[in-house]
Amino acid sequence: MAVNLLLGLQWGDEGKGKIVDVLTKEYDIIARFQGGPNAGHTLIFDGQKHVLHTIPSGIFHPTAMNVVGNGVVIDPIIFKKELDNLDKLSVDYKSKLLISRKAHLILPTHKLLDAASETSKGKAKIGSTLKGIGPTYMDKTGRNGMRVGDLELADWKERYDSLVEKHIKMIEFFDVQLDYNLEELEEDFLAGVEKLRELRFIDSEEYLNNAVKNDKKILAEGAQGSLLDIDFGTYPFVTSSNTTAAGACTGLGIAPNKIGDVLGIFKAYTTRVGSGPFPTELFDADGERMAKVGHEFGATTGRPRRCGWLDLVALKYAVQVNGVTELMMMKADVLSGFETIKVCTSYNYKGEQITHFPYNVEEQNVTPIYSEFAGWAEDLTEMTSDETLPKNLKDYIAFIEEEVGVPIKIVSVGPDRNQTIMR
Ligand code: IMP
Repeated sequence: MAVNLLLGLQWGDEGKGKIVDVLTKEYDIIARFQGGPNAGHTLIFDGQKHVLHTIPSGIFHPTAMNVVGNGVVIDPIIFKKELDNLDKLSVDYKSKLLISRKAHLILPTHKLLDAASETSKGKAKIGSTLKGIGPTYMDKTGRNGMRVGDLELADWKERYDSLVEKHIKMIEFFDVQLDYNLEELEEDFLAGVEKLRELRFIDSEEYLNNAVKNDKKILAEGAQGSLLDIDFGTYPFVTSSNTTAAGACTGLGIAPNKIGDVLGIFKAYTTRVGSGPFPTELFDADGERMAKVGHEFGATTGRPRRCGWLDLVALKYAVQVNGVTELMMMKADVLSGFETIKVCTSYNYKGEQITHFPYNVEEQNVTPIYSEFAGWAEDLTEMTSDETLPKNLKDYIAFIEEEVGVPIKIVSVGPDRNQTIMR
């Protein structure tokens, strides 16, 4: 089958960038299908760290084509910065990066609206990355948005101006204190638009379906994670797109019967940035240790991530919604040195023991029930084969596979491309 999907199964930050980078050599095309620069995909190779926000993680590969699909929202200001970084590294992106005409544009005022909306929510704020994601998707579904293809129209600037005018009135409606210099923001935006114009705008659904017909191998690269999905995540503490498998069909124009393997990525424990329920969250030394050893700080915002034990109730839910066929376990090395490893296998939900992910997962409704495993002391970061992994880790892996019913094909033992064990 031509199109495989790669998705995060938790609350994002599972390490998708690294795995796409590792797998790129098997694919002709890497395509992003949803989200925008709220994502931060980190790749580490040759001792250098690279963070991509909108550009697919195949851009460093010499031959893979990279498509930003119609489901993505693009901020020309951030996109320009990403391209400037690639320029510095002499990466030839112009021949390898294609942009869907149907992708929507994030305007500077979308970001201001995001900030106004979050400020007005006070304590109930979502913890948005403030990249304008929600307001841009609102304009998309409200049928007011601007698309990349609009930049090819003679009157695009008038359309931009009238949308900005509308946004300014909306910002006033929020009645919150917001300091901004629209002229400066607009200057950056226009410079971003000019940079964007250096790339090829395409009808990406046509391009991708032709590629499918020609037996090209395509990897659809997800952003964020399944529990941030607008429909299936912990609403309203979610992002504004479908991060789950179906989002790849709508975000690329690829039919469900063209999808082959669904590769699900999860961390050996769990993290979350921003607000919202997190049943297995830890507030003790174990959680602090995960954050410290795992360098759990957001790649986009630098915010510290909340940490907790692996939640198999949530993982099984994500596997089901996505139809995951292969699992990839990240950051196993971070759990080295814990005397006991816990994994949540069911919830006490309003006094009843359940094994499915319910509508309300807030702490007043859900208490996690754990199974315990003996930990391992060995440092995994130099290990290169499955046979060398400690027995207690193997038991942990076997337990997860048994519970979830899907094989774990990759165990990642460090951030570098080379610290990847194929099973
Ligand atoms: P937004 O999509 O920026 O509005 O953020 C909505 C929620 O999703 C917030 O809790 C963010 O922290 C979270 N979020 C958005 N993008 C990512 C990501 O790439 N990784 C992890 N969390 C994310």
